[in-house]
Amino acid sequence: MATHKLVVSPLPRVFLNGITHASRPTAAVLIQHHSQPFSTTPRTSLKEFFVEHDHPHIRKTEAAWQHPIYTPEQMAAVSISHRETRNMSDRVALLAVRFLRSSLDFVSGYRHDKAVADGTKAAGAATQAFAMDEKKYLVRNIFLESVAGVPGMVAGMLRHLHSMRRMKRDGGWIETLLEESYNERMHLLIFLKMGEPGFFMRAAVLGAQGVFFNALFFSYLVSPRTVHRFVGYLEEEAVITYSREIADLDAGKLPKWEKMRAPEIAVSYYKMAEGRQSMRDLLLHIRADEAKHREVNHTLGNLDQKEDPNPYVSTYKDEGKPHPCKDIRFLKPKGWEREEVI
Ligand SMILES: [Fe+2]
Ligand SMILES: [Fe+2]
Repeated sequence: MATHKLVVSPLPRVFLNGITHASRPTAAVLIQHHSQPFSTTPRTSLKEFFVEHDHPHIRKTEAAWQHPIYTPEQMAAVSISHRETRNMSDRVALLAVRFLRSSLDFVSGYRHDKAVADGTKAAGAATQAFAMDEKKYLVRNIFLESVAGVPGMVAGMLRHLHSMRRMKRDGGWIETLLEESYNERMHLLIFLKMGEPGFFMRAAVLGAQGVFFNALFFSYLVSPRTVHRFVGYLEEEAVITYSREIADLDAGKLPKWEKMRAPEIAVSYYKMAEGRQSMRDLLLHIRADEAKHREVNHTLGNLDQKEDPNPYVSTYKDEGKPHPCKDIRFLKPKGWEREEVI
């Protein structure tokens, strides 16, 4: 039977119609000839992008870091937020994020309402110069998630090396940073279940990773505080993007995602309850993760980079009071101030 392979490119205005005939069977998402594009494909006709091999002794390979459970109420409460800049380091971080954001918006044909970004207008009421559809969002999500996992890994790696080189303790930051990059990579793997990147997307990811890794590596050596603030601002943008996706879904602008079930990899990673495994539920989980990264990085940016322990793995003298934690019980969009937690 003839099959179609979805090719996702980073330049949707030019390449998004690149659903091409597969010349050979691939391990990607294969779609029946008669079916609609990627996202409406019934689960039974999806072929796994990551082929699960059968090993003689292994039953299952579990995720190394177990994801905390988020309740529907906690996820619904996640909102767009912005932490005002307070010093030069903050302003440099914000400027870098604004520059990256406008560059990516330009190439991906994405525009968001300024009033939505400012939080003065609901995401659903956004006026759009370029309407986004499922495929454009998917392209954007895959590209963004492929770079989102870089900062945590760079910061964790540098703190790890610093600790060994200087023969000093780290204060528990490394695990949280590596776990963040792991979580971002899971976002990428989840979106890759919905579409296979084509040549242009792969090239863009390769280039972006090379540039982003090196830029962050040197920036973190110079000013780790600025990098954490930068990631905090980047995550503010991620929350805006996913809020837009959820709002568009609710407004009926993404019909292909409406009846779609979250990929199995997401269901097991987030331990999504029966009846709460839709595409909307998935976006709520991912947005909540981004809100958590926003909080964690703004908090880390508020701390003494050399002396302070990681508030996210600490226990508190007064456990009855809200304090930083791994889940989203006490979400603080602008981060915890140093005086509150150390
Ligand atoms: Fe992410
Ligand atoms: Fe994130």
